[in-house]
Amino acid sequence: MKKQLTIALSKGRILKETLPLLAAADIVPAEDIFSSRKLIFDTNHSHIKLVVIRATDVPTYVEYGGADMGVAGKDVLMEHGGAGLYEPLDLEIAKCRLMVAGMKDAAPVEGRMKVATKFVNLTREYFARQGQQVDIIKLYGAMELAPIMGLADRIVDIVDTGNTLRANGLEPMQHIADISSRLVVGQPSMKMKHALIQPILDQLQQAIDARR
Ligand code: ATP
Ligand code: PRP
Ligand code: MG
Repeated sequence: MKKQLTIALSKGRILKETLPLLAAADIVPAEDIFSSRKLIFDTNHSHIKLVVIRATDVPTYVEYGGADMGVAGKDVLMEHGGAGLYEPLDLEIAKCRLMVAGMKDAAPVEGRMKVATKFVNLTREYFARQGQQVDIIKLYGAMELAPIMGLADRIVDIVDTGNTLRANGLEPMQHIADISSRLVVGQPSMKMKHALIQPILDQLQQAIDARR
């Protein structure tokens, strides 16, 4: 029997941009993902399945072999740490920036700075690299609210158009990293299923190049 291959997709805002790339690699879900409550989908290939999960869970699934490969934002991968994962392709979708932001024209912080974010690991590492010890407050969304409510001095979050910052009286202050979505492959899968995976990587690369 042919080896099975499972691909983990982030279900949020990158799913719409992911499906055309997969289609370019001739991988098409057997039914409409958006109108279904299913979490696992057959495709036009009997040996390939898609699982659709929260963005932050994609690296975890791939790390532990629950999926062979996946699509996740670089922000999520930096936060996860990348253990057990190869990152062979930059899919060049969902481009944005990871920034430190604060209230517009905020005074410099005296003493230990409070930083609200859902990216606690990468935030700690970023400020440690700057030689700055900070208190990190873990949030799960709407980070922009934290400085307004006096919960934190700064936030670390994704910025694209800057509209969310502006609409809430905040401004970007420091650039941490440029972000886009990446294809990740579990290290054991890359070895054991290389013959299945390599043609998919090649076709995805072609589709990415064709868009430039
Ligand atoms: P969840 O909502 O499940 O907590 P999430 O907010 O990380 O997770 P999405 O909003 O779907 O999930 O974001 C998925 C990925 O898309 C992020 O990891 C990031 O790489 C990218 N992204 C997030 N916000 C934007 C944005 N405003 N513009 C472009 N790309 C973005
Ligand atoms: C993301 C991010 C910012 C916003 C940035 O939030 O966390 O809040 O987009 O985009 P902009 O610079 O174009 O305004 P999202 O809409 O994903 O909401 P979330 O808090 O549920 O993740
Ligand atoms: Mg989001």
